[in-house]
Amino acid sequence: MKIIIKDTKANASTAAFKLFSKGIKQGAKVLGLATGSTPVDLYREWVASDLDTSELTSINLDEYVGLSPDNDQSYHYFMQKHLFEQKPFKQSYVPDGLKAAADPEGVSAEYNQIIKDHPIDIQLLGLGQNGHIAFNEPGTSFDSITHEVKLTENTIKANSRFFSTIDEVPKTAICMGIANIMAAKEVIIMAFGESKADAVKKMIEGPVTEAVPASILQKHANVTVIIDEAAASKLT
Ligand code: F6R
Repeated sequence: MKIIIKDTKANASTAAFKLFSKGIKQGAKVLGLATGSTPVDLYREWVASDLDTSELTSINLDEYVGLSPDNDQSYHYFMQKHLFEQKPFKQSYVPDGLKAAADPEGVSAEYNQIIKDHPIDIQLLGLGQNGHIAFNEPGTSFDSITHEVKLTENTIKANSRFFSTIDEVPKTAICMGIANIMAAKEVIIMAFGESKADAVKKMIEGPVTEAVPASILQKHANVTVIIDEAAASKLT
């Protein structure tokens, strides 16, 4: 694992943007993208740049089950607002949350096929406080592929800050599995703030265990961890 520690989230996001730009200039065509608060500065810098995405394909990690693309809490909506409206891609895939409410297995199978047809060159990840990657919570098999996941109380609570009440947070999501993520040629994982420090330490220094999904990244041949000083504060 290559580890980049910057003093602030802003500087760390700039470092991530540079890595993406370099990868795209070197020929990356398919990008795996994430939502959440972590990549917002990176996307802002991307939008302000002259980096051309019109020949690229994007595949997002996950989507809440039951939310339509125009629901302002859906990950479709998030991606439109933060990146796609200003930087359209040739094609962008996000799991269909509405269709998944009726047919989670069908939507998961279709998504696995999309990933197979478009092997991911660079996968962007955020890190959950409990070590999750995408919505793959502790205990998820390292062999998992796209599937419906039941969100833990911890994740529902963490994400409730984006909803008016905690009851509005969906209880399940469709999400890429850990095997899909590990199949990406390159992975960039970002984490910011003290609340991520324990998860960062376990991901980098702990044993590789399904109890800490992100620890599997120790086994990936091309991973860059980009963190701020607060998230790095527990590293030895
Ligand atoms: C988002 C995702 C999640 C987040 C993680 C961190 O697509 O899959 O795993 O990356 O929960 O969330 P933030 O960035 O809000 O701290």
